[in-house]
Amino acid sequence: MIDPEHRASLEEIYERARSCTACPLAATRTKVVLFRGDPAARLMIIGEGPGYYEDQSGLPFVGKAGQLLDRILASVNLDKDRDVYICNVVKCRPPGNRVPTEEEASSCRSYLDAQIKFVQPKIILLAGATAMKSVLQVNSSISRMRGKWLDHKNGAKVMPIFHPSYLLRNDSRKAGSPKWLMWQDIKEVRKQLDILLEEENKNISS
Ligand code: URA
Ligand code: SF4
Ligand code: URA
Repeated sequence: MIDPEHRASLEEIYERARSCTACPLAATRTKVVLFRGDPAARLMIIGEGPGYYEDQSGLPFVGKAGQLLDRILASVNLDKDRDVYICNVVKCRPPGNRVPTEEEASSCRSYLDAQIKFVQPKIILLAGATAMKSVLQVNSSISRMRGKWLDHKNGAKVMPIFHPSYLLRNDSRKAGSPKWLMWQDIKEVRKQLDILLEEENKNISS
């Protein structure tokens, strides 16, 4: 789904970001964290920002929360390397894993916008309040917004979901618990994705 031109544009964006000093996070980062997964994926997941392991490795969502995310994806047969493109609102680690400021998020916004523009995902999941607020410019709570389909200006369907680190702090699987709600949400995402893929196949064969 990604043509060579878009791939080249993404490479340019990564190149620029790797030497970016547009916000104060540049001073304390080890590595700039851009993405993992496949730029040809229909599904994009946007988190908040790198933590310790991400800053060390240069890859998003590789710590505990990321491992949980991969298990959540696998539970509906989504492959972490092939079926998703995963990135964050800010590309450099906020010291002590604090929430990035609005200034930091907006300094970093052009990179995220370019990722959305060139990957052209059909579905975007916003993991946690920071991604939801930053991408949708809303001030509602994630508990109220999660699981709802919204429209993105690039044409994608967007759904806010809980952040996996929130699930790590709330272990219950009872009906109505955060983990249970995440399970409902990811099943809904799988369903929409299947509908999309079916439409794509129809268009190819007709
Ligand atoms: N949390 C995030 O939001 N992003 C990561 O990459 C890792 C943890
Ligand atoms: Fe640049 Fe974003 Fe890193 Fe800030 S967080 S230095 S804007 S890449
Ligand atoms: N609170 C958070 O910080 N993150 C979530 O995903 C949900 C509630």
